[in-house]
Amino acid sequence: MAAGIAPVREDEIRRWHDSGQAWDRWADAMADPAARLNGPLLAALDLHPHHLLLDLASGAGEPAITAAKGMSPAGQVLASDLVPAMLAGARRRGAGLGSLSFMTADMTALPLGAASVDRVSCRFGLMFVPEAPRAVAEMHRTLRPGGIAAALCWGPQADNTLFRLVDDALGGMPELAVLFRFAEDGSLSRLFQDAGFDSVSETAVRQTALADAAKPFWRPTLDMAFAPALARLAREERAALEGHIAARVQVQADQDGRVPVHLHARLVVARKA
Ligand SMILES: C[S@@+](CC[C@H](N)C(=O)[O-])C[C@H]1O[C@@H](n2cnc3c(N)ncnc32)[C@H](O)[C@@H]1O
Repeated sequence: MAAGIAPVREDEIRRWHDSGQAWDRWADAMADPAARLNGPLLAALDLHPHHLLLDLASGAGEPAITAAKGMSPAGQVLASDLVPAMLAGARRRGAGLGSLSFMTADMTALPLGAASVDRVSCRFGLMFVPEAPRAVAEMHRTLRPGGIAAALCWGPQADNTLFRLVDDALGGMPELAVLFRFAEDGSLSRLFQDAGFDSVSETAVRQTALADAAKPFWRPTLDMAFAPALARLAREERAALEGHIAARVQVQADQDGRVPVHLHARLVVARKA
Protein backbone atom coordinates (compact mmCIF):
# COMPACT_ATOMS: atom_id res chain seq x y z
CA MET A 1 0.00 0.00 0.00
CA ALA A 2 1.33 3.47 -0.80
CA ALA A 3 2.58 5.23 2.33
CA GLY A 4 0.67 8.11 3.83
CA ILE A 5 -2.65 7.56 2.08
CA ALA A 6 -5.42 6.91 4.55
CA PRO A 7 -9.04 7.66 3.72
CA VAL A 8 -11.19 9.10 6.51
CA ARG A 9 -14.66 7.58 6.77
CA GLU A 10 -16.56 10.87 7.24
CA ASP A 11 -14.69 12.50 4.32
CA GLU A 12 -15.53 9.57 2.07
CA ILE A 13 -19.21 9.62 3.01
CA ARG A 14 -19.30 13.35 2.23
CA ARG A 15 -17.37 12.89 -1.04
CA TRP A 16 -19.80 10.22 -2.28
CA HIS A 17 -22.90 11.97 -1.01
CA ASP A 18 -21.85 15.04 -3.03
CA SER A 19 -20.93 12.95 -6.09
CA GLY A 20 -24.11 10.88 -6.52
CA GLN A 21 -25.88 13.15 -8.99
CA ALA A 22 -22.83 13.51 -11.25
CA TRP A 23 -22.32 9.72 -11.33
CA ASP A 24 -25.97 9.12 -12.18
CA ARG A 25 -25.87 11.81 -14.88
CA TRP A 26 -22.84 10.28 -16.64
CA ALA A 27 -23.53 6.59 -16.06
CA ASP A 28 -25.41 5.93 -19.31
CA ALA A 29 -22.95 7.93 -21.45
CA MET A 30 -20.10 5.97 -19.86
CA ALA A 31 -21.58 2.57 -20.73
CA ASP A 32 -18.84 1.67 -23.25
CA PRO A 33 -15.81 2.38 -21.07
CA ALA A 34 -17.69 0.72 -18.20
CA ALA A 35 -18.23 -2.39 -20.31
CA ARG A 36 -14.51 -2.56 -21.17
CA LEU A 37 -13.71 -2.59 -17.45
CA ASN A 38 -16.51 -5.01 -16.53
CA GLY A 39 -15.21 -7.52 -19.10
CA PRO A 40 -12.07 -8.67 -17.27
CA LEU A 41 -13.72 -8.36 -13.84
CA LEU A 42 -16.76 -10.50 -14.67
CA ALA A 43 -14.66 -13.02 -16.64
CA ALA A 44 -12.41 -13.46 -13.59
CA LEU A 45 -15.45 -14.24 -11.44
CA ASP A 46 -16.49 -17.22 -13.58
CA LEU A 47 -20.06 -16.13 -12.97
CA HIS A 48 -22.86 -18.61 -13.70
CA PRO A 49 -26.45 -17.52 -14.45
CA HIS A 50 -27.82 -19.19 -11.29
CA HIS A 51 -25.29 -17.58 -8.92
CA LEU A 52 -25.91 -15.05 -6.18
CA LEU A 53 -23.41 -12.23 -6.80
CA LEU A 54 -22.82 -9.62 -4.12
CA ASP A 55 -21.51 -6.41 -5.70
CA LEU A 56 -19.88 -4.06 -3.19
CA ALA A 57 -19.59 -0.27 -3.69
CA SER A 58 -21.93 -0.49 -6.70
CA GLY A 59 -22.31 3.29 -6.94
CA ALA A 60 -24.38 4.09 -10.04
CA GLY A 61 -24.62 0.38 -10.77
CA GLU A 62 -21.55 -1.21 -12.34
CA PRO A 63 -20.74 -4.02 -12.63
CA ALA A 64 -23.99 -5.06 -10.89
CA ILE A 65 -26.36 -4.07 -13.72
CA THR A 66 -24.28 -5.69 -16.46
CA ALA A 67 -24.00 -8.89 -14.41
CA ALA A 68 -27.73 -8.93 -13.63
CA LYS A 69 -28.57 -8.86 -17.35
CA GLY A 70 -26.83 -12.25 -17.74
CA MET A 71 -28.62 -13.98 -14.86
CA SER A 72 -31.22 -16.73 -15.17
CA PRO A 73 -34.44 -16.45 -13.08
CA ALA A 74 -32.65 -18.54 -10.43
CA GLY A 75 -29.75 -16.11 -10.19
CA GLN A 76 -29.52 -12.78 -8.41
CA VAL A 77 -27.23 -9.77 -8.12
CA LEU A 78 -27.26 -7.80 -4.90
CA ALA A 79 -26.00 -4.26 -5.57
CA SER A 80 -24.76 -2.59 -2.38
CA ASP A 81 -23.20 0.69 -1.36
CA LEU A 82 -22.57 2.68 1.80
CA VAL A 83 -24.01 5.90 0.40
CA PRO A 84 -27.70 6.05 -0.68
CA ALA A 85 -27.01 9.04 -2.98
CA MET A 86 -24.65 6.86 -5.05
CA LEU A 87 -26.93 3.83 -5.09
CA ALA A 88 -29.76 6.06 -6.37
CA GLY A 89 -28.15 5.89 -9.84
CA ALA A 90 -28.11 2.09 -9.71
CA ARG A 91 -31.76 1.99 -8.61
CA ARG A 92 -32.77 4.24 -11.51
CA ARG A 93 -30.69 2.42 -14.14
CA GLY A 94 -31.55 -1.06 -12.89
CA ALA A 95 -35.29 -0.49 -12.42
CA GLY A 96 -37.25 -3.39 -13.90
CA LEU A 97 -34.41 -5.92 -13.80
CA GLY A 98 -35.91 -8.83 -11.86
CA SER A 99 -32.51 -10.33 -11.06
CA LEU A 100 -31.22 -7.16 -9.38
CA SER A 101 -31.81 -6.08 -5.79
CA PHE A 102 -30.28 -3.32 -3.69
CA MET A 103 -28.87 -2.91 -0.20
CA THR A 104 -27.38 0.06 1.62
CA ALA A 105 -24.46 -1.41 3.55
CA ASP A 106 -20.94 -0.74 4.74
CA MET A 107 -18.68 -3.37 3.22
CA THR A 108 -16.80 -3.67 6.51
CA ALA A 109 -19.95 -4.91 8.33
CA LEU A 110 -22.23 -6.73 5.91
CA PRO A 111 -25.72 -7.69 7.12
CA LEU A 112 -25.41 -11.12 5.50
CA GLY A 113 -24.82 -14.58 6.89
CA ALA A 114 -21.59 -16.52 6.59
CA ALA A 115 -21.16 -18.49 3.35
CA SER A 116 -24.31 -16.90 1.89
CA VAL A 117 -23.13 -15.77 -1.57
CA ASP A 118 -21.42 -17.47 -4.55
CA ARG A 119 -19.41 -14.52 -5.83
CA VAL A 120 -18.31 -11.06 -4.65
CA SER A 121 -17.28 -8.19 -6.91
CA CYS A 122 -16.01 -4.72 -6.11
CA ARG A 123 -15.14 -2.23 -8.86
CA PHE A 124 -13.12 0.80 -7.70
CA GLY A 125 -14.43 0.73 -4.14
CA LEU A 126 -11.86 -0.85 -1.81
CA MET A 127 -9.43 2.05 -1.79
CA PHE A 128 -12.02 4.34 -0.16
CA VAL A 129 -12.48 2.10 2.87
CA PRO A 130 -10.27 3.04 5.83
CA GLU A 131 -10.41 -0.53 7.18
CA ALA A 132 -9.88 -2.28 3.85
CA PRO A 133 -8.64 -5.49 5.55
CA ARG A 134 -11.99 -5.72 7.36
CA ALA A 135 -13.85 -5.33 4.06
CA VAL A 136 -11.84 -8.17 2.53
CA ALA A 137 -12.45 -10.27 5.65
CA GLU A 138 -16.19 -9.67 5.12
CA MET A 139 -15.87 -10.85 1.51
CA HIS A 140 -14.22 -14.03 2.80
CA ARG A 141 -16.85 -14.57 5.51
CA THR A 142 -19.87 -14.09 3.24
CA LEU A 143 -18.53 -16.25 0.38
CA ARG A 144 -19.39 -19.93 0.34
CA PRO A 145 -16.45 -22.37 0.19
CA GLY A 146 -15.22 -22.46 -3.41
CA GLY A 147 -16.63 -18.96 -3.99
CA ILE A 148 -14.65 -16.28 -5.82
CA ALA A 149 -14.04 -12.61 -5.09
CA ALA A 150 -12.70 -10.17 -7.69
CA ALA A 151 -11.89 -6.49 -7.26
CA LEU A 152 -10.56 -3.69 -9.44
CA CYS A 153 -8.57 -0.74 -8.11
CA TRP A 154 -6.68 1.95 -10.00
CA GLY A 155 -3.04 1.45 -10.98
CA PRO A 156 -0.60 4.39 -10.68
CA GLN A 157 -1.90 7.86 -11.50
CA ALA A 158 0.95 8.30 -14.02
CA ASP A 159 -0.55 5.43 -16.08
CA ASN A 160 -4.07 6.90 -16.12
CA THR A 161 -4.29 9.74 -18.62
CA LEU A 162 -7.67 11.10 -17.57
CA PHE A 163 -6.84 11.48 -13.88
CA ARG A 164 -3.43 12.95 -14.70
CA LEU A 165 -4.86 15.46 -17.12
CA VAL A 166 -7.65 16.68 -14.89
CA ASP A 167 -5.60 16.64 -11.68
CA ASP A 168 -2.81 18.66 -13.34
CA ALA A 169 -5.35 21.25 -14.47
CA LEU A 170 -6.74 21.54 -10.96
CA GLY A 171 -3.26 21.99 -9.52
CA GLY A 172 -3.09 18.64 -7.69
CA MET A 173 -6.05 17.61 -5.57
CA PRO A 174 -5.06 15.92 -2.29
CA GLU A 175 -8.33 13.98 -2.15
CA LEU A 176 -7.36 12.17 -5.36
CA ALA A 177 -4.41 10.38 -3.74
CA VAL A 178 -6.64 7.78 -2.12
CA LEU A 179 -7.69 6.49 -5.56
CA PHE A 180 -4.20 5.11 -6.02
CA ARG A 181 -3.89 3.54 -2.57
CA PHE A 182 -3.57 -0.01 -3.97
CA ALA A 183 -1.73 0.95 -7.16
CA GLU A 184 1.49 -0.72 -6.14
CA ASP A 185 1.94 -4.18 -7.65
CA GLY A 186 1.19 -6.82 -4.99
CA SER A 187 -0.57 -4.57 -2.47
CA LEU A 188 -4.03 -5.85 -3.41
CA SER A 189 -3.05 -9.50 -3.47
CA ARG A 190 -1.44 -9.17 -0.02
CA LEU A 191 -4.75 -7.86 1.33
CA PHE A 192 -6.60 -10.96 0.08
CA GLN A 193 -3.90 -13.38 1.21
CA ASP A 194 -3.95 -11.86 4.68
CA ALA A 195 -7.74 -12.34 4.84
CA GLY A 196 -7.28 -16.09 4.39
CA PHE A 197 -8.15 -16.50 0.71
CA ASP A 198 -6.68 -19.64 -0.81
CA SER A 199 -5.56 -18.86 -4.34
CA VAL A 200 -4.94 -15.18 -5.06
CA SER A 201 -3.71 -13.60 -8.28
CA GLU A 202 -3.19 -9.96 -9.22
CA THR A 203 -2.83 -8.72 -12.79
CA ALA A 204 -2.68 -5.41 -14.63
CA VAL A 205 -5.62 -4.36 -16.80
CA ARG A 206 -4.27 -1.91 -19.37
CA GLN A 207 -6.33 -0.27 -22.08
CA THR A 208 -5.65 2.55 -24.54
CA ALA A 209 -8.31 4.42 -26.47
CA LEU A 210 -7.75 7.13 -29.09
CA ALA A 211 -9.82 10.20 -28.27
CA ASP A 212 -10.78 13.13 -30.45
CA ALA A 213 -8.84 16.07 -28.99
CA ALA A 214 -11.55 18.50 -30.14
CA LYS A 215 -14.15 16.83 -27.90
CA PRO A 216 -14.37 17.08 -24.09
CA PHE A 217 -13.80 13.35 -23.55
CA TRP A 218 -12.30 14.27 -20.17
CA ARG A 219 -15.51 15.92 -18.85
CA PRO A 220 -17.04 12.80 -17.22
CA THR A 221 -13.83 12.26 -15.23
CA LEU A 222 -13.79 15.91 -14.22
CA ASP A 223 -17.43 15.81 -13.11
CA MET A 224 -17.37 12.43 -11.41
CA ALA A 225 -13.99 12.42 -9.67
CA PHE A 226 -14.05 16.09 -8.66
CA ALA A 227 -17.75 16.79 -8.06
CA PRO A 228 -17.29 18.28 -4.54
CA ALA A 229 -14.41 20.55 -5.67
CA LEU A 230 -16.29 21.70 -8.78
CA ALA A 231 -19.34 22.61 -6.74
CA ARG A 232 -17.18 25.26 -5.02
CA LEU A 233 -16.24 26.96 -8.34
CA ALA A 234 -18.07 29.93 -9.83
CA ARG A 235 -19.36 29.52 -13.40
CA GLU A 236 -16.47 31.57 -14.88
CA GLU A 237 -13.89 29.62 -12.89
CA ARG A 238 -15.34 26.38 -14.18
CA ALA A 239 -15.25 27.69 -17.77
CA ALA A 240 -11.61 28.79 -17.35
CA LEU A 241 -10.69 25.36 -15.96
CA GLU A 242 -12.33 23.57 -18.87
CA GLY A 243 -10.57 25.89 -21.34
CA HIS A 244 -7.26 25.08 -19.68
CA ILE A 245 -7.84 21.32 -19.97
CA ALA A 246 -8.95 21.61 -23.61
CA ALA A 247 -5.79 23.59 -24.44
CA ARG A 248 -3.55 20.99 -22.76
CA VAL A 249 -5.25 18.24 -24.73
CA GLN A 250 -4.77 20.09 -28.03
CA VAL A 251 -1.03 20.34 -27.40
CA GLN A 252 -0.83 16.55 -27.07
CA ALA A 253 -2.87 15.78 -30.21
CA ASP A 254 -1.28 14.04 -33.20
CA GLN A 255 -1.70 15.31 -36.78
CA ASP A 256 -5.11 13.64 -37.02
CA GLY A 257 -6.29 15.43 -33.89
CA ARG A 258 -6.19 12.29 -31.71
CA VAL A 259 -4.77 11.76 -28.23
CA PRO A 260 -4.05 8.37 -26.64
CA VAL A 261 -5.94 7.84 -23.38
CA HIS A 262 -4.21 5.21 -21.27
CA LEU A 263 -5.81 3.33 -18.40
CA HIS A 264 -4.17 1.01 -15.88
CA ALA A 265 -6.20 -0.83 -13.24
CA ARG A 266 -5.21 -3.67 -10.90
CA LEU A 267 -7.39 -6.78 -10.88
CA VAL A 268 -7.29 -9.19 -7.95
CA VAL A 269 -9.02 -12.57 -8.07
CA ALA A 270 -9.22 -14.79 -5.00
CA ARG A 271 -10.90 -18.09 -4.17
CA LYS A 272 -12.13 -19.21 -0.76
CA ALA A 273 -10.98 -22.75 0.04
C1 LIG B 1 -15.65 5.09 -7.50
S1 LIG B 1 -17.22 4.65 -6.88
C2 LIG B 1 -17.39 3.09 -7.70
C3 LIG B 1 -18.79 2.84 -8.19
C4 LIG B 1 -18.95 1.66 -9.17
N1 LIG B 1 -18.58 0.39 -8.59
C5 LIG B 1 -18.20 1.91 -10.44
O1 LIG B 1 -17.15 1.29 -10.65
O2 LIG B 1 -18.66 2.73 -11.25
C6 LIG B 1 -16.84 4.19 -5.22
C7 LIG B 1 -18.03 3.77 -4.39
O3 LIG B 1 -17.56 3.23 -3.15
C8 LIG B 1 -18.57 3.48 -2.19
N2 LIG B 1 -18.03 3.24 -0.84
C9 LIG B 1 -17.10 3.96 -0.17
N3 LIG B 1 -16.89 3.42 1.04
C10 LIG B 1 -17.69 2.33 1.16
C11 LIG B 1 -17.92 1.35 2.18
N4 LIG B 1 -17.27 1.40 3.35
N5 LIG B 1 -18.83 0.38 1.95
C12 LIG B 1 -19.52 0.32 0.78
N6 LIG B 1 -19.33 1.22 -0.23
C13 LIG B 1 -18.44 2.21 -0.04
C14 LIG B 1 -18.94 4.93 -2.47
O4 LIG B 1 -20.17 5.31 -1.89
C15 LIG B 1 -18.96 4.92 -4.00
O5 LIG B 1 -20.25 4.67 -4.49
